[in-house]
Amino acid sequence: MKKLFLILFSLSTAVAGAQSRQTQDFDTGWKFHLGNDSLAKSVVYNDAQWRSLNVPHDWSIEGKFDEKNPTLQGEGGLPAGIGWYRKTFTIPATSKNKAISIVFDGVQHNSEVWINGHYLGKRPNGYISFEYELSPYLKYGGKNVLAVKADNSDQPNSRWYTGSGIYRNVWLVTSAQTHIAPWGVFISTPKVSVAQAQVSVQTRVDNVQAMKNIEAKTVIYDAAGKKVAETHGPVDGPDNEGGANQSLTVTKPQLWSVNKPYLYTVTVTLVDGKGKVIDEVSNKAGIRWFDFDADKGFSLNGEPMKIQGVCLHHDAGALGAAVYKRAIERQLQIMKDMGVNAIRTSHNPPAPELLDLCDKMGLLVMDEAFDMWKKKKNKNDYYKEWDQWHTRDLQDQVVRDRNHPSVFIWSIGNEIREQFDSTGISITRELVNTVKKLDSTRPVTSALSEWNPEKNFIYKSGALDLVGLNYHQEVYADLKKHYPGQKIIGTEQVSALMSRGHYDMPSDSVRMWPPDAKTKIKGNPDYTVSAYDNVAAYWGSTHETTWKLVKKYDYFSGMFIWTGFDYLGEPTPYPWPARSSYFGIVDLAGFPKDVYYMYQSEWTAKPVLHLLPHWNWKAGQTVDVMAYYSQADEVELFLNGRSLGIQKKHGDDLHVKWKVKFEPGVLKAVSRKGGQTVLTTQVVTAGAPYQIKLSADRSAIKAGGKDLSYVTISILDKDGNVVPDANNLVNFKVTGAGVLRGMDNGYQADLEPFTSSSRNAFNGLALGIVGSAVKGGSISISATAAGLKSANLTIQSR
Ligand code: GAL
Repeated sequence: MKKLFLILFSLSTAVAGAQSRQTQDFDTGWKFHLGNDSLAKSVVYNDAQWRSLNVPHDWSIEGKFDEKNPTLQGEGGLPAGIGWYRKTFTIPATSKNKAISIVFDGVQHNSEVWINGHYLGKRPNGYISFEYELSPYLKYGGKNVLAVKADNSDQPNSRWYTGSGIYRNVWLVTSAQTHIAPWGVFISTPKVSVAQAQVSVQTRVDNVQAMKNIEAKTVIYDAAGKKVAETHGPVDGPDNEGGANQSLTVTKPQLWSVNKPYLYTVTVTLVDGKGKVIDEVSNKAGIRWFDFDADKGFSLNGEPMKIQGVCLHHDAGALGAAVYKRAIERQLQIMKDMGVNAIRTSHNPPAPELLDLCDKMGLLVMDEAFDMWKKKKNKNDYYKEWDQWHTRDLQDQVVRDRNHPSVFIWSIGNEIREQFDSTGISITRELVNTVKKLDSTRPVTSALSEWNPEKNFIYKSGALDLVGLNYHQEVYADLKKHYPGQKIIGTEQVSALMSRGHYDMPSDSVRMWPPDAKTKIKGNPDYTVSAYDNVAAYWGSTHETTWKLVKKYDYFSGMFIWTGFDYLGEPTPYPWPARSSYFGIVDLAGFPKDVYYMYQSEWTAKPVLHLLPHWNWKAGQTVDVMAYYSQADEVELFLNGRSLGIQKKHGDDLHVKWKVKFEPGVLKAVSRKGGQTVLTTQVVTAGAPYQIKLSADRSAIKAGGKDLSYVTISILDKDGNVVPDANNLVNFKVTGAGVLRGMDNGYQADLEPFTSSSRNAFNGLALGIVGSAVKGGSISISATAAGLKSANLTIQSR
């Protein structure tokens, strides 16, 4: 078996080598030094003492929480600073006449790059992808040194956690001197109907003048690999501006939608006069159309569809900003299972993997560019780079992302300060124009926090295609009056607050935490917030209140909830030691809070019955019991076998509730439709912590160092019930073909470093994130805690 694997492996490398273009994963074999050393750019520098690692890498997440760190609480209180990376590599002598370039999907931030001591350039924006040509400076058949400096020391520079370092993937691209430009194929579908789709493919070619009689051959394959359209034509144009504009027709196209995200492959091949292949690039593409209507809201392929979106920051909890495709996929899966159909990449260009996954999984994307323009929100933020970099950054984002069928809105900014003065007019026009020149197929919006059209200069520019409103639910009923004839979407709503598994009564008295801009709240001594959906920041509103409104008005195309997941930083409403947000529908570890099931009951077709809270209270205490349900007419509640009555949702209700005098035992809910039981669920009074249970989201993962298995650690009583307030300290050990990548528990004020191998459970649960090693094999996982029966688990890495 092993042998066969090796043979296949070498075969595939050989084939790749013979191809016209080679895109190599350049993530392994880096050296890293935390701290500044300006000599490190030089080839002769001795990095033997530096740490060896693979990227993507985020050094901040490895650090200790400290309120004195210059990132401050808003960025999560983790260290930042300066870091250096070096990679020594060889380039074969046979590559001498090739064009070789390096692509960084993103470096956080202020990156500077040198090849063999030669300075390639600087890129301040930590979220943008960029590339440099290396060929003129390479030693062919010899050793080369790439040096990267990442400078995140200019703190504070963000309103949330950014991470530090080469936190996204790196690629080495080798192609012929004449080649398709980076992100050089633009696929769009100007005309789509059920009968046929016109697919436009515009290819830009670098170094055209070096060759004569080049042709671009373009083929569209369906998902089964069958050719469905092809064309060919000359590549022409002056100097480096050359290219081909082609149009193809796909008859009876399979449409891309959120329920059926059908993807075609578009392959562009450059061929020389003798028919020899010079370069080839393949892209996934989707055929769909959509519309925003001022009265009826959004529709996809002619079907009305409310945007049920969430805002997501880019961190992956305990993994920080370091990109693991599996971590992104897991977040998106959890969101999709809740019924989410759209993601807002707040407030920056995402990792390319997120867009690939959204294409594949069927999630629409509002792709956002900026959190500030020329006016700052933080002392050292991007406003400093605005003049020099914003046009280039925005152009690069659009060019990189415009092929993704998932991307349906460009956002040029979030709650931009220029809303409030006339400079907003000219900048908005300029930015919209920059986008439109590169892609006129999608509407451009900006997330506005000033709802009043008279006072909002970004709106007054007249350049937005779509009015994007943040919060201000109080005006939704009157929006048609304020914005006659305009298309409207909720770009950011809710900002409700919750800690998983914590409940403050009464459940139906809503607390605004904080109540206004000046008042400090007292809150709970343990920095928790109730999970009854009864707490929100003063600019926001609870989940239920907001969704009821959004649902009501057809002209309101939908919403993007702040936020799908908790994220690092911005721990409103608490001071230190709170260090991560309370806004998520799902906690930082990926465990859903109760309101997740409210959305699931509204947004999916599967029957839902979710009962809250837990059932460990003081004898005689009156407890607010709630149930979210769907696909049923009623829910009956039983305590230790006695009925406590049947409840039904009336009007726009989103849950049912009971007040119950606590007695220990079993609280059970039964949902029924037409008298038939649909679902039953129960919560049981748990005894003392007795044992640990481990369960992995995936028991087989891929070897190679990039895959992950998320292992849930539950603290159970003797009978196997989760103990809802257990906080036992768990030691977690990973041996064999895997490594521990991080631990979490979803508690927003836990200052244990994420890389630590022990962690307290929070409300009965903790999480261990296990990564594959390069080599496959068995991974043994064990969890122990003082006084508890330990647990073991084995998963496979192949
Ligand atoms: C919004 C802002 C978000 C986040 C949120 C917290 O105003 O756009 O980035 O700060 O508030 O409620």
